[in-house]
Amino acid sequence: MNGFGQGFRWGVATSSFQIEGAPHEDGREDSIWDVFCRQPGAIANGDDGSAGIDHYHRWTEDLDLMAELGIRNYRFSTSWSRVVHADGSRNAPGLDFYSRLVDGLLERNIEPWLTIYHWDLPASLPGGWTNRDTVSRFTDYAMLLHERLGDRVRTWTTLNEPWCSAFLGYASGEHAPGHTDYREAIRAVHHLLLAHGWATRALREADAGAKLGITLNLSPTSPAEPTDPRDVDCARRIDGTANRIFLDPLFRGQYPLDVREDLAQYWPDDLVREGDQEAIAAPIDVLGVNYYTTEVVAHGHVGAKAAHDTAVDTENRPSPHPSAPSAQFPPRPQLAKTAMGWSVDPQGLRHVLGRLHREYTAAAGTEIVITENGAAYQDACTGGGRVIDDDRIAYINAHLDACRQAIGDGVPLRGYLLWTLADNFEWAYGYEKKFGIVSIGAKMARVPKASGQWYASVISSNGAVV
Ligand code: NOJ
Repeated sequence: MNGFGQGFRWGVATSSFQIEGAPHEDGREDSIWDVFCRQPGAIANGDDGSAGIDHYHRWTEDLDLMAELGIRNYRFSTSWSRVVHADGSRNAPGLDFYSRLVDGLLERNIEPWLTIYHWDLPASLPGGWTNRDTVSRFTDYAMLLHERLGDRVRTWTTLNEPWCSAFLGYASGEHAPGHTDYREAIRAVHHLLLAHGWATRALREADAGAKLGITLNLSPTSPAEPTDPRDVDCARRIDGTANRIFLDPLFRGQYPLDVREDLAQYWPDDLVREGDQEAIAAPIDVLGVNYYTTEVVAHGHVGAKAAHDTAVDTENRPSPHPSAPSAQFPPRPQLAKTAMGWSVDPQGLRHVLGRLHREYTAAAGTEIVITENGAAYQDACTGGGRVIDDDRIAYINAHLDACRQAIGDGVPLRGYLLWTLADNFEWAYGYEKKFGIVSIGAKMARVPKASGQWYASVISSNGAVV
């Protein structure tokens, strides 16, 4: 008995902006990431993500590759500015692309899992996520996708990692649109959650049988010195604005009171309107968890710089944690690190799954799926141009072990989607950080790494080969 059970959903995840390219083909318009990539200094090495890995032209090859690797579920996202024009009208060629993609997946017996929003907001939307009007536009966009693809796509994720959209996009400015205003970040949090809620309600009304959910990035946060009340408070604050600010409204129908207090100076009085909390708490079927690492935090003195690993220009960026801006992240030399500088801590995954189940999802009957987990390493080519990435295999293996333990603890974990199919555009870090189980060689040639072959055997044995 390997623990994963029948029907466990194995697969990989990608996102539109990171892979598609073809930024201005067939009527696609700019997203905030196209614009951000043009800003000097925004992306490491001056990389421009709008080329992606040319998936828009090579999608059949990518689907064949997935089929060869035995991938059963494919979580991808759609590019909003590819399917909707700035004036709100639909862009038929963009919708046709996704329709062909979905057909191609089904022909290969790969289940499509659609993420409606993975950070590439149309640049034309005034005020972006700070503007409440974006919530209605998002709902229209979600329904347009459903109208065209809903007969074949049965699992829908509204948002990917709203923490990043709100706090990296509007607080630290590390992500598009690159703003650094804590008030804007809080507005973005609420509007993102409301967009999730409104779209969930509309999708549910249109399609009672669809599986609906949201994906959050969740990192357990613990105090560096558990006996120091200042570190304990710092960990509470960061857990509040990174995790509970999303989980509580989704599962308990209200923002946590301590978080509201911590953020009072940035929280606009008119932000939350009547009916908003009920809308955000619309029941979901599946909670997606993206897990990479854990955080250990220590209180800092005002003015101290957070020793966070960030892509570019760390020196001058505000902290993405408005309620603990001077928090410190002390190094943990006992833990190995990935190429992102993130500590490898698989037990954190078991911990986060257990907490979710106990504190949030069990009462609601929501199932949990790992919608992303994986690692960047400095891959080296060995003979024949093949990448032997034992470190990535070990990382995934250890996290699958943690999943098995969590299932043993009673967590209804129903799937594992690896990040990611092929090396791609890692946001502010550009192309240098490689998370793929397939490498991209000269002329964009796709070559499975050792981890790709290994993952194929994990899937075919339902997780027994680890
Ligand atoms: C989270 C994001 O959803 C994805 O876009 C990103 O590439 C990975 N994590 C790795 O950082």
